[in-house]
Amino acid sequence: MKNTYSRIVVFLMTCIVMLSAGTIYAQQLTIDQRVDSVLKLMTLDEKIGQLNQYSGFEEATGPVTEEADKPEQLRKGMIGSMLNVTGAVKTRQAQEMALQSRLKIPLLFGQDVIHGYRTIFPIPLAEAASWDLEAIELSARVAATEASAAGVHWTFAPMVDISRDPRWGRVMEGAGEDPYLGSLVAAARVKGFQGNCLGNTDALMACGKHFAAYGAAVGGRDYNSVDMSLQQLHNVYLKPYKAAVDAGVATMMTSFNDINGIPATAHKYILRKVLRDKWNFQGFVLSDWGSVGEMINHGYSAGEADAAKAALLAGCDMDMESRCYIKNMKSLVLSGAISEDVIDESVRLILRKKFEMGLFDDPFRFCNEEREKQQWDNRAHRDIARNMARKSIVLLKNDKELLPLKENVKTIAMIGPLVKAVGENNGFWSYSWPDDSVRIVTQWQGILNRAGNQANLLYAKGCGITEPDSSGFKEAVEIAMKADVVIMSVGESANMSGEAKSRSNIQLPGVQEELIKAVYATGKPLVIIINAGRPLVFNWTADHAHAILYTWWLGTEAGNAIADVVFGDYNPSGKLPMSFPRSEGQIPVYYSYFNTGRPPKDENDLNYVSAYIDMPNSPRFPFGYGLSYTSFSISEPVLNTTNITAGEELIIKVTVSNTGNADGTETIQLYFRDKVGSLVRPVKQLAGFQQVFLRKGESRTLTFTLTEKDLRFYNENLEFVSEPGEFDVFVGNSPDNLKGKGFVLD
Ligand code: BGC
Repeated sequence: MKNTYSRIVVFLMTCIVMLSAGTIYAQQLTIDQRVDSVLKLMTLDEKIGQLNQYSGFEEATGPVTEEADKPEQLRKGMIGSMLNVTGAVKTRQAQEMALQSRLKIPLLFGQDVIHGYRTIFPIPLAEAASWDLEAIELSARVAATEASAAGVHWTFAPMVDISRDPRWGRVMEGAGEDPYLGSLVAAARVKGFQGNCLGNTDALMACGKHFAAYGAAVGGRDYNSVDMSLQQLHNVYLKPYKAAVDAGVATMMTSFNDINGIPATAHKYILRKVLRDKWNFQGFVLSDWGSVGEMINHGYSAGEADAAKAALLAGCDMDMESRCYIKNMKSLVLSGAISEDVIDESVRLILRKKFEMGLFDDPFRFCNEEREKQQWDNRAHRDIARNMARKSIVLLKNDKELLPLKENVKTIAMIGPLVKAVGENNGFWSYSWPDDSVRIVTQWQGILNRAGNQANLLYAKGCGITEPDSSGFKEAVEIAMKADVVIMSVGESANMSGEAKSRSNIQLPGVQEELIKAVYATGKPLVIIINAGRPLVFNWTADHAHAILYTWWLGTEAGNAIADVVFGDYNPSGKLPMSFPRSEGQIPVYYSYFNTGRPPKDENDLNYVSAYIDMPNSPRFPFGYGLSYTSFSISEPVLNTTNITAGEELIIKVTVSNTGNADGTETIQLYFRDKVGSLVRPVKQLAGFQQVFLRKGESRTLTFTLTEKDLRFYNENLEFVSEPGEFDVFVGNSPDNLKGKGFVLD
C-alpha cells in the first residue's frame, strides 16, 4: 500500500513538473504535440472521462435518468465537459473541482446560447426572416460576447436543420425550409459565435446541430424517424451542415432521429464517411442529450454497452448525459470490443479544442466576474437587438396602407393576450433573468414609448392564449369602439414551439380568432400582430384583418422594434423563410417542389392532376414573401449570353425601382430551374439574393452571376455534377413573383 502511494506521489510530481515545464516550451510546440504530450500521461479512465459530459448541478435541459456524484467525479477526472453551469462564479467553482484531478485537465462549459444570452435576440427563424447575413452574424457575436464573459466556452448552436414542416416545434431554432438560405445563415452564425479566432476570450465554440436531418421527422413529431433517399439528404438537408463545417464550426451534435433505420448517433455513413472523410471535419462530435442510451429504445442497441460501442465506433466522440460511455467504455476496451486507439482519437479531438480555447494556459480565462459585470447591461447590445428585431418582422398584409399609423390616430386600442406579456417575448430557448420584468420591453410599453405623447392608449386582454373563455370579448369590443385604430397582439405562447413542442393543429390557439372576429365587427381599422415560433394557420384573419405583422418572438427589445415598424420609423423588410400553409393538410408545403407528371394548369384544374380537391396547392404565404410600406418594380432580367460552358459566367442584370412613397429595402431573389435532369430537379431553387435600400423614386441595377458550379446537384450515384441542357433563371421578390429567361449550359 505504502509502495503504491509513493509511486503515485512520484508520478504526480513528474506530471506537475511536466505540466509546468509545458508552459515554458509550450510556445514552441504545436497544439497537436501538446495534445499528444497530455494524452501520453492519461490513464484509460481519464481518457474515458474526457468523453463524458454532464449537465450542471441544478439545471437540466433534458431527462436526467440517474444522479451522479458530480463533484467527486470532477475531482477524479471523470468528466470532460459540463453543460448548464451558468455564470462566472459557478463555472469557476466547477473548474476548481476539475483542477483537483490528477492531470488538472480543464473542463469545457457548454450552454444552449441559441438567440442571445443576457440580451435576448429574436428566435433564429425570425432572424432568418431578415435575410440580413451581417445582422445575423452580429447577433451571434453579441451572444458570444455576453456568454463568454459569463464563463461559457461553447454554445450548442447554430441549429441548421432544414425543416418543411411547421408542426415541428423546433422550426423556431432554424433558418427555415431552404438549403441555400439555410447554408448562408449557418455560416454567418458560426462566424458570429466563433469570432476571429477560437483563442480569443470573447469567442464561443459553435456546434452545428442536429446532425442530421432532424427537421424531417415524420409527421413533424419531435424525435421521430427520418426516412429519405440519400439524394434528397445530400441535395437538401445536408447542405447547411456542410456550410457550417466549411465555416470552421468547432463541433457537431448528432440528432435524436434515426435516418433510414439507423440512429444518427451511430450512423457511420453520415458521421464517418460524410462528415469526416468527405467534408474533412476537424472538430469533435457530441451526442444529443441522452441520444446514446436512447438507441436502446430505438431498438438498435441491446443495452448500454452495445449503444456506447456503436456510437463511439460511428464517430460520436462525446456522450451528453446518457452515461453509457463512462459506465461501459472501460470494459469495452478491456474486453477488446473497442481498441484504445479509437478512444485516443476522440480524446485527441476534444483536448485539441481545449488547447485552442486557451484553457490549458488559463482554465479560468472565461470565469471573470469583472468582465461578466461589464457585459451585464450593455446598452449597445440592446440597440443591436432592437435593430435585429425590426429587421425580422414580416409585413404580410397592408390594405389601404393602414400602416404605418398616421399622425391623425389619436386613440389606439391594444387588445389581446400578448399585449402586456413579458417573458413570452423571448420565445423558447432563452434565459430568464430576475430583472426580466423591467428589462423586456413589452408590446404595450413599446407602443407607449413611441406614441404616449401623441395618442391615447386603451387596453383589454380579451382572452387568454389557449383558454376557451370569451368573457373578456365585451370589454375588448367596447374599447375598440372608442379607438381610431385597433392593434391586436395574438399568437402562441412561447413554449408552444421549441423542443418537444410539436403541434398537430397550428391554428391560432384558443378563442383568439373568435376575438379577432368580434373586434373586426366593430368596423375599426384592424392591425394584427402575430407572435409565434412557427408558421401558423389563420385564414379568416388573413382574409379580413386590414394589416398583419408577423413578429415571431423578438426578444428583449420586442416592444420597441414593433413600435418602430407600426409607426414607420423602420420600413419592414422581412421575408418569410418558410412557406405558410393554408391548412395542416397541405404540410409539407414548400416552394422547391418537383413538378410531378401531372402538374395542374392552374388552381382550378382538377382533371386527374396532382392537386387537392378542397384547396389550392399553393401556400397561404410563400417562402420569400414580405411586403414593404413602399412598392418596388423589378425589370425583366437581362443576360450577357444565352449559352455558358463550365468556367464561364452567366451575368444577370436587373433594375429595381422604388415606385412608392417611402424609402425602403427590398430583397431581390434569384432562382433557377434545371429543366431536364438525370434526377428530377425542383421547379425553382434559390441561388442568390441581394438586399437593396432605395430612396423613393430611386432605381438601381443589380448584378448576379451564376456559373456551372451553382447548377450542380448530387446525382443518382451521389456525384456532385451539373448536366448540360436547358435552364431557366428567374429574378423577383418571391417565388410567386418572378420574371425569367432561358439559357443553356453546354
Ligand atoms: C436538445 C439540444 C440541446 C441539448 C442540451 C437536447 O435536448 O435537442 O438541442 O443542445 O438538449 O440542452
